Formats: sequence, C-alpha cells, structure tokens
Amino acid sequence: FSIDEFQDDLITWFEKEKRDLPWRKNKDPYKVWISEIMLQQTRVDTVIPYFNNFIEQFPTIDSLAEADEEKVLKAWEGLGYYSRARNLQAGVREVKESYNGIVPNTADEISKLKGVGPYTTGAILSIAYGVPEPAVDGNVMRVLSRILSIWDDIGKTKTRQQFEEIIREIISKENPSYFNQGLMELGALICIPSNPACLLCPVQKHCKAFAEGVQRELPVKSKK
Ligand code: ADE
Repeated sequence: FSIDEFQDDLITWFEKEKRDLPWRKNKDPYKVWISEIMLQQTRVDTVIPYFNNFIEQFPTIDSLAEADEEKVLKAWEGLGYYSRARNLQAGVREVKESYNGIVPNTADEISKLKGVGPYTTGAILSIAYGVPEPAVDGNVMRVLSRILSIWDDIGKTKTRQQFEEIIREIISKENPSYFNQGLMELGALICIPSNPACLLCPVQKHCKAFAEGVQRELPVKSKK
C-alpha cells in the first residue's frame, strides 16, 4: 500500500468528480459546521434546500446567535432530530461569547462546543482550516474497512478510534480537506453499501477487499 499514490489517486479523482454542492462553494467554518450537522442524519439531496434556506436566513454566526430559537426550529422543520438545531444555536452562541464570533481552530476548543463530536470537529478543521485531522463517520469507515480489509465491528467506539489513528497516518498533509472529502464522496458515489461500483473506483488498485473479493462482506457491523 503506497500512501503517496493513494492520496494522489483519491484527491485527483475528487477534484474531477466532486459534486457541486452549496457548502463546497467556500470554506467558511460556520457553513461547514451547519452543513456537517445537517448531513449527519440526513441525506445530501434532502439537505441542499434546507442548507440554502438556513444560510439565507442566518448568514453569519452573529445572526444565528441572536435569532429566536423558534425561528431556528422553524427553519429546521422537516429535517428532524431537532436537538441538532438547538445544540447548533447553543454552540454558535458560545463562539460569539467566548471566541469573538470566530469558530476556533483547535480540536480541543471545537470539540467542546455544544453538539460537536469528533466527526464534526475533524470536518471543520480539515475542510475549513486545512488541518490534517480525521473526520470519521459510517461512510468513511465503510470505505476504509474495504481498502485495508479491516474486519473490526464498526459499531464499536474503539473501532472508530482505530480508524482515526489510521487516518492520522495516511491523510494528505498538503490537502487534508480534499482527502477527507474524497473519502466521503467515494462512500457516497462508488463505495456504496451494497453493490459497490469497484470497476469505476479510482482507488481500486489500492483496495485489499477488492483483491480478495470480499468487498461485499465489509464493513462488519454487529446488530444492536
Ligand atoms: N456527508 C457528510 N459530509 C459531507 C460533505 N461535506 N459532502 C458530502 N457529503 C457529506
């Protein structure tokens, strides 16, 4: 497994094939934050109009911090998991009060914000600030478990932490944003849960599960 070639193949593919999504227009950490929270339990196609409307109503940290909670929940209506919206506004208020309205750029500070877990922390750091931190969600675990033929149960916290350690070693230090987004995009477009499109995969030559013919058996997820 060549880390350099893998990074290059993944990033080159992402540059060429990335979907034109509204939160990819710039690197505003506030917008990355909103999009990643919306995308955690909701599909991309559903999120797009909600994201656009939310940003129109609350274009900045200050505007969301100062908004009535009622208005924020109204803008979230239909997305579900309303605690996400309440936590988001609480987190944004913390940024306004403790960080002069600037989303902080360290893992310690970001991860303390209300509603922000390890995945969102890594997504904000890598995408908005270019810091080489892992952003591991279920899609990324599926992709990586196939590429490296990892048979640990992805439902366990320990496994997610192991994936984070692996990503720390293989993430591109030049372009952590495109590396992490490339893994997400691969999981969305090619390395999908059933019937992955291995013949179209830009990193097929790096994929251990494909070489072994076991891509359909991965990832391992125990039923709860
Ligand atoms: N899923 C989670 N984060 C995403 C992103 N930034 N782009 C597309 N899909 C995603």
